[in-house]
Amino acid sequence: MTDDVTNLVNTTSSESRFQRGKRFVPQGVNGYDENWYPICLAKEVKPGKLHGFKYLNGKVIVFRTHDGKAQVLSAYCRHLGVDLSEGSVVGSTIRCPYHHWDYDQTGQCVKTAIGAEPPPRAKLFEFPTRESFGLIWAYNGEEPGYDLPVFPVPEHELEYIVCRASEVPMDPFMLFSNTMDLQHLISLHKAKFDSLPDKFEVGERTISYSQAMSMPKLGHSTQQVTCHGTNCITLVSEVKGRETFMMSAGLAIRGPLTKTFNVSATRRTEASTCGSVLSQMRERLAIRAHIKLVDAFGKRLNAEDDPIFRTMSPRMDRLAGNADKALKTYFDFATSYPRSTIAQDLICNDYRDGAQRIEVV
Ligand code: FES
Ligand SMILES: [Fe+2]
Repeated sequence: MTDDVTNLVNTTSSESRFQRGKRFVPQGVNGYDENWYPICLAKEVKPGKLHGFKYLNGKVIVFRTHDGKAQVLSAYCRHLGVDLSEGSVVGSTIRCPYHHWDYDQTGQCVKTAIGAEPPPRAKLFEFPTRESFGLIWAYNGEEPGYDLPVFPVPEHELEYIVCRASEVPMDPFMLFSNTMDLQHLISLHKAKFDSLPDKFEVGERTISYSQAMSMPKLGHSTQQVTCHGTNCITLVSEVKGRETFMMSAGLAIRGPLTKTFNVSATRRTEASTCGSVLSQMRERLAIRAHIKLVDAFGKRLNAEDDPIFRTMSPRMDRLAGNADKALKTYFDFATSYPRSTIAQDLICNDYRDGAQRIEVV
């Protein structure tokens, strides 16, 4: 694990008019950012079934234990490296399809089919796993370095929509820079700021700030913005008289590729549970219409960004003073963000993914 990587590369020691600025170090070099990554929709993971998903430089399995709790483990059997997503759930263990070694929920091999003692180091990587807002999340590291992104209102008090939103051929840390790219909010998304935000609370793993702006279809609002790690953004605001919560989070996959998921939410109101049946129904429909409006807003931003993202070749080249102050703050944060290599050997299939990745020992 590298705790203190600087994720920028100097392309030249002396500045030249004909060279661009510093390159960003891609994800996968020095590991992947130590983030909570959303892997899939929680409803996709059925009890008693194994599911395989691409994750960072490789693959993980996702399943539910007998108590319904979701767990994420590295996908390749510690015996001969067979993909365990082709295996099965047997009671509270998962079984490799080849020689039927059984792994418990922590990833420890506990039994072999022929009764031989499992090698003590036959253990899969056990990712810290959470289920929240209809998503399964896994942290890239042994212990989470920050709390799972949430809203300031408990999940059970919210009505929300969660969906797969986009697939973009760039690393999450670059994709999510667009939140603090205030120029593009104005030019591309037609935002009108009361004034550009210039006070940013920068922590080790989060950035928070407030912005007052008008957006097409949503109108005017003051938003509390938080970047959680380098792959998730939450917005808290009041839109059209309702508390409104938006989250976008991205999974990093080798490519580069980011799969994003969006959550759009509002607080359940008293009027949706009290009063006449008709008024309750009306209020529930209004709540539903509101989160659909917010969801459509998020999708519109994704659709406007998407073709642009596909053309970008970003460098830290010429930022524009105050207009790019927020973006510079994000780049300083993201380029010194810690990366972890801890799981990368256990999740990769280097036999399939390219012989050049296999070191001869
Ligand atoms: S490869 Fe999995 S048990 Fe042998
Ligand atoms: Fe955007």
